[in-house]
Amino acid sequence: MSYNVAIDGPAGAGKSTIAKAIAKKKGLIYVDTGAMYRAMALFMIREGIAAQDAEGISRKCQEADITIAYENGEQVVYLNGENVNAYLRTEEVGNMASATSVQPAVRKKLVELQQALAAKSDCIMDGRDIGTCVLPNAQVKIYLTASSAVRAKRRYDELTAKGEACDLAQIQADIEERDYRDMNREHSPLKQAEDAILVDTSDMSVDEVIEHIIGICEE
Ligand code: DC
Repeated sequence: MSYNVAIDGPAGAGKSTIAKAIAKKKGLIYVDTGAMYRAMALFMIREGIAAQDAEGISRKCQEADITIAYENGEQVVYLNGENVNAYLRTEEVGNMASATSVQPAVRKKLVELQQALAAKSDCIMDGRDIGTCVLPNAQVKIYLTASSAVRAKRRYDELTAKGEACDLAQIQADIEERDYRDMNREHSPLKQAEDAILVDTSDMSVDEVIEHIIGICEE
């Protein structure tokens, strides 16, 4: 049986930074499930399907063949044979991913892919429904969070460091809106699994969080 670590939590909690670092230290494969929802969203944008078109999204998602490969230690997402990593991290794709991920047909397809990956490799997988739906039997489940003010400030610092102008209050409002949508959707909403360990990173450094979670894994 493979060894699986599930990390769930709201946008901006630091899931991918933490999961990547732990994967490296523990020799696990890092599976970024948000990137799969983003690839599906990119497909819908390219096909001209509207975010509100539930029926169109459910029908069209059958035409999207999404696969994952690992190249130089990085997860690469292929959409119908094309490496689409470079197109996934935009606001447009992120917002479309939040909208398309509410459709059960989309979730079913991507959850099957995620479960197949976890069955064949020791991995650390991050997302919104990993501990609750995708890997209910994961050996370790972490629910990673931080206050919306702290998450907004981290995002603000990241953007200003890149020289991008942005507004802290607006970033916090966007984060709270996305939390609401992810936590209140009908299918597989974001919530802490009963057997997940809560890690609030509001007052912790990245290194402290990594050390703390590795400690939990080793217990
Ligand atoms: O983690 P992220 O920002 O890359 O995720 C993009 C969107 O995909 C997010 O708003 C919700 C959705 N998502 C999901 O529904 N289930 C997951 N396991 C991962 C992401």
